[in-house]
Amino acid sequence: MTSKPEHSTVWRGAVTDQEVSGLHAAAFDHAEELEPWRERLERYSLGWVTVRRGELLVGFCNVITDGGHHAFLLDVIVHPDHQGTGVGKELVHRTIEECRTSSVDWLHVDFEADLGPFAMTEGLFRRSSAGILRV
Ligand SMILES: CC(C)(COP(=O)(O)OP(=O)(O)OC[C@H]1O[C@@H](n2cnc3c(N)ncnc32)[C@H](O)[C@@H]1OP(=O)(O)O)[C@@H](O)C(=O)NCCC(=O)NCCS
Repeated sequence: MTSKPEHSTVWRGAVTDQEVSGLHAAAFDHAEELEPWRERLERYSLGWVTVRRGELLVGFCNVITDGGHHAFLLDVIVHPDHQGTGVGKELVHRTIEECRTSSVDWLHVDFEADLGPFAMTEGLFRRSSAGILRV
C-alpha cells in the first residue's frame, strides 16, 4: 500500500523563485516566467503561506502590509491538479490566523466576480466596495 505524501501548511516557509513562478503559471494558465519571488516576499510581505504535499508546492498565497493595521491578501493560488481539495480554504484560514497574531486589524481581499460568493472563505470576509486600475 502506498502512503499519502505528507501534507504541510507553513507560514513564511522556504520557497524558490522557480516553485512559485511555476505554480503561478499553472494556476493562472499563463506562460512560465521566472519572477524574483524570494526577494519580493522578504522585502514587502508580512508573510506568505505554503501548502506542500510531500516536497511539492501545491498552494501559495501572499500577504502584504502597510506595517500597521492593514494587510492585503494576494495571489491565492492552488495547482490545478490539487484544486477542489480544500487547499484554497486552508491558505485563507492560515492567513487569517497569522494576521490575528500581528498588528493587523483589517485583511483586504479582492476577487473576480466569477469567484461569486467566495465560498472558499466561508463568509469570513464581509463584502465591500473597492476600485482597481491597471496602470
Ligand atoms: C480559487 C482557488 C484558489 C480555490 O482553491 P481550491 O483549493 O480549489 O479551493 P477549495 O478546495 O479550498 O474550495 C473551497 C471552497 O471554495 C469553492 N470554490 C473553489 N473554487 C471556486 C471558484 N473558482 N469559484 C467559486 N467557488 C470556488 C469550493 O466550492 C469550496 O466550497 P465549499 O467549502 O462550500 O466546499 C483555485 O481554484 C485557484 O488557484 N484558481 C486560480 C487562481 C485564482 O483565481 N486565484 C484566486 C484569485 S487571486
